[in-house]
Amino acid sequence: MTNTDNAAIAERIDYVAEIDRLRKETNAVILAHYYQIPEIQDVADIVGDSLELARRAKDTDAETIVFCGVHFMAETAKILSPDRRVLLPDLDAGCSLADSAPAPLFKRFVESRPDHTVVSYINCSAAVKALSDVIVTSSNAEKIVRQLPEDKPIIFAPDRNLGAYVSRQTGREMTLWQGTCVVHEAYGEKAILKLREQYPDAKLVAHPECEERVLRRADFIGSTSKLLAFVRDDDAPTYIVATEPGVIHQMKKSAPTKTFVPAPANETCNCSDCPYMKLNTLEKVWRCMRDGEPEIIVDEETARRAMKPLERMLEMS
Ligand code: 13P
Ligand code: SF4
Repeated sequence: MTNTDNAAIAERIDYVAEIDRLRKETNAVILAHYYQIPEIQDVADIVGDSLELARRAKDTDAETIVFCGVHFMAETAKILSPDRRVLLPDLDAGCSLADSAPAPLFKRFVESRPDHTVVSYINCSAAVKALSDVIVTSSNAEKIVRQLPEDKPIIFAPDRNLGAYVSRQTGREMTLWQGTCVVHEAYGEKAILKLREQYPDAKLVAHPECEERVLRRADFIGSTSKLLAFVRDDDAPTYIVATEPGVIHQMKKSAPTKTFVPAPANETCNCSDCPYMKLNTLEKVWRCMRDGEPEIIVDEETARRAMKPLERMLEMS
C-alpha cells in the first residue's frame, strides 16, 4: 500500500470511536496529562497531574495503560504497575528536565555527597529515581520536604526552579541540580508585565517550574491540578496562565465564564506548547492501541530500586 493509500484510509477513520472500541476489546484505561491536546483529554478515562496519574496507574484494574503524556510518566506507571502493559503513543515524547540529569552523571553527584537526602522530582528517568531517597511532584514537594529529617542536608534534582521555590517555602537549604524545563524557563517577565497592563483585572497563576522572576509576579503558584482548583474557586474574571497551555482546556470546562490568557514566552511569540507533550495525537493513540506498541519496558533491577522512593512519595503525600 502506498503512503497516499494510507493517508486516505487514515482520513476516513473515526479515531474516537475506534479508540473506544479498542479500549473495551483490550481492557485498557487511557490516562492523559493536562498538557495533552484537548481531543486526547476528551477521549481519556482520567485526566490529571503527575501525582494523580501515578496513583491511578498504581490502582488500575485494567490490563493495559495507555499513557498520554511523556516518557518519564509512562515509565513511572510501569514501575508502579509492573504487571500491566503500558503504552506510550509516541516514544519520542521525552522531557527536557529528565534529559538534563543523565543517570551516570547524577550517580557521581550523589556519591560525592553521601550524607545527603536525595529528593528527585518525578520528571526524571527510572535510573535517576533508583538513585533517589524520595520522589516528589509539584503537588507534594513542599509537604514531603517538610517531613525530611532536619539534620541531613538535601539534594534536589533535576529542576532548579522548583527546588529553589521549595527551598524558599520550607526554609530548607538544598544543593540543586541545574536542570530546567524548556517551556517554563522561557516565560519572560517583560512580556508578562505587558500582558498585565492589557488585562488589569487578571491574576497571574504560575507553575513552580517557572523562573523566580516570573514567580515573584504571580498571584498563585502551584502544580497543574492546584492551578486548576484555584481558577475554579477564585473570583477574578481573567487569568494569565504561566504553564503549558494544554491545561486551559480543563480551566475553561470548570470555569466557563472566565477568560484564560496563555502567558507568552517573549514579546514576539505566544508559543509555550511543550514540544514533547504535543507529539501525541489521536491517530497515534489509536495506532498504539491497535498495534500494542510502543510498549514501555523498565529493566527489573532498576524498577525494583525506583519503586522504593516512589512508594515513599505516595505514603508521604
Ligand atoms: P504537574 O505535576 O504539575 O502536572 O507537572 C508536570 C509537568 O511536566 C510540568 O511541566
Ligand atoms: Fe518536561 Fe517541561 Fe514538557 Fe513538563 S512541560 S514534560 S517539564 S519539557
